[in-house]
Amino acid sequence: MAAEMTESRHTSLWLDDTEATHYPTLQGDRVFDVAVIGGGITGLTAALLLAREGQSVCLLDQGVIAMGTSGHTTAKVTSQHHLTYARIRVSHGKDGAATYGAAMEAAKERVASFVDEGINCDFRRRPAYVYATRPGERALLEREAQAAQEAGLPATMDDEVPLPFDTRGGMRFDNQVEIHARRYLLGLADRFVRAGGEIFEHTRAVHVDESGGCVVHTDGQGRVEAEHVVVATLMPFLDRGGHFARAFPSRSYVLTARVQAGLPDAMLISAAPPMYSIRSVPYRGEELLMVLGQNHHLGSPKASPERFEKVAQFARQHWDVTSFEHRWSAQDYSSDDGVPYIGRLNIRSKRIQVATGFKKWGMTSGTLAGMLITDAIVGRDNPWASMFSSTRVKPLAEAPRFLAENGRVGVRFVADRILARGQRDIAELDIGEAGIVSCNGQKVAGYRDEEGRLHAVSSRCTHLGCQVAWNDAERSWDCPCHGSRFDPDGQILNGPATKPLDPRPTTPTP
Ligand SMILES: Cc1cc2nc3c(=O)[nH]c(=O)nc-3n(C[C@H](O)[C@H](O)[C@H](O)COP(=O)(O)OP(=O)(O)OC[C@H]3O[C@@H](n4cnc5c(N)ncnc54)[C@H](O)[C@@H]3O)c2cc1C
Ligand code: FES
Repeated sequence: MAAEMTESRHTSLWLDDTEATHYPTLQGDRVFDVAVIGGGITGLTAALLLAREGQSVCLLDQGVIAMGTSGHTTAKVTSQHHLTYARIRVSHGKDGAATYGAAMEAAKERVASFVDEGINCDFRRRPAYVYATRPGERALLEREAQAAQEAGLPATMDDEVPLPFDTRGGMRFDNQVEIHARRYLLGLADRFVRAGGEIFEHTRAVHVDESGGCVVHTDGQGRVEAEHVVVATLMPFLDRGGHFARAFPSRSYVLTARVQAGLPDAMLISAAPPMYSIRSVPYRGEELLMVLGQNHHLGSPKASPERFEKVAQFARQHWDVTSFEHRWSAQDYSSDDGVPYIGRLNIRSKRIQVATGFKKWGMTSGTLAGMLITDAIVGRDNPWASMFSSTRVKPLAEAPRFLAENGRVGVRFVADRILARGQRDIAELDIGEAGIVSCNGQKVAGYRDEEGRLHAVSSRCTHLGCQVAWNDAERSWDCPCHGSRFDPDGQILNGPATKPLDPRPTTPTP
């Protein structure tokens, strides 16, 4: 009988395999040199490096650390970012591609150095491949390999790749790295605290004032005064930098599986759609297959459990799968020109640093962000900073994506107000069903849970007012405009929103 994807645990392998953290919440007003907001790989790297520079540093997270996208990654630490170098050579020139490559290699080795300090996180060096399955894709890879070589990277073309199915060869980077994401991150957190840093969990930042110094305001837990603030929240929740209009969210679906044979001893990703990313992963004394696929823009009706099934079908098609062990989905943002935004919030800001747009390569890009932000705060010149500057303007490189993505958001914004007026009544929802429905004469986002209870919240995202859409794969309300996500009761799962969706009464109001 074929292994069933639905029998897997609906959690990331990294979370399943590590202890929960229990850092305190912020109490009252505190003063630090630097306040870091966000406890993923970006925030934890920046916090640790800054603490080691002698700064007094605190790190705030709205939930718990290492549970955002960094706790749901596939944890390939590589300078091979799919097909990147040929594109950057066109948009930023040969020197730009060389800078990008040198910076990502340095970030990978920064991770290796932290691990060398004694972080037990299944670190291993392996080659990374982008593989071709159709004849035309081979030419793409050859062009990419040449651009990567010219950028100083260890790129070669191979006719064979370590996969149990036929391919048209692949582009190989040697000496790349795999880790256990959460053990690595908890190792950084531990070292940060030993270096004198303080972590506050369940402490949401809602606003940062910048005049002279900075003040971070939280959602009722007190304030932090700091000389500098690092916003490492995947997408900055401060709109003053306009990043929500320059970086765009997409989700991906990941499975782990126990297979009979044919586990790859390399990291692999397909060159062309449908895109699959593959690695093997140690888990409690055995080795599992990990496959990611089904990337899509955020927003219904694309987020559905069938996407997990499609990734499972790919795994079954190529491996003899005995069982599926984990399934999860997560999101990341891509910048307009394919280069992360790292640096000042905007051209007037001197004390607020941000980082976003890692296009699902944040294990290296987030580490790099921690390194560049640390240099900026301690006043050290960094030759790579201008390439990644968050305030850069590259009209030719950025315009096509900027126009396409913001056009999509604009259409969504208008269409949602005309269509989907919530003609069904909330009472008509079946068990497990959700929709934009009417309730007490109002349009609401409604959901009937497995116990039959109704949940109703405002259908307008609290960020900039787009209509949320149901994500049936994760049972959440997702905003298709800039990626905020909320649980069925409106509580925030992902920013940039900093306020929950307003609850609506589900019983008739007098
Ligand atoms: C499915 C998937 C697979 C991936 N695989 C790879 C891979 O193999 N290799 C690779 O290099 N990259 C990969 N990536 C990308 C990489 O995982 C991310 O780019 C990276 O983890 C982002 O880290 P971060 O620290 O910036 O954000 P996060 O890890 O999301 O951390 C942000 C933190 O900020 C907190 N926060 C948010 N808002 C607030 C607020 N207002 N106040 C306080 N706290 C707040 C959140 O709770 C969260 O803990 C993948 C991404 C996805 C989606
Ligand atoms: S995330 Fe911006 S409007 Fe919803």
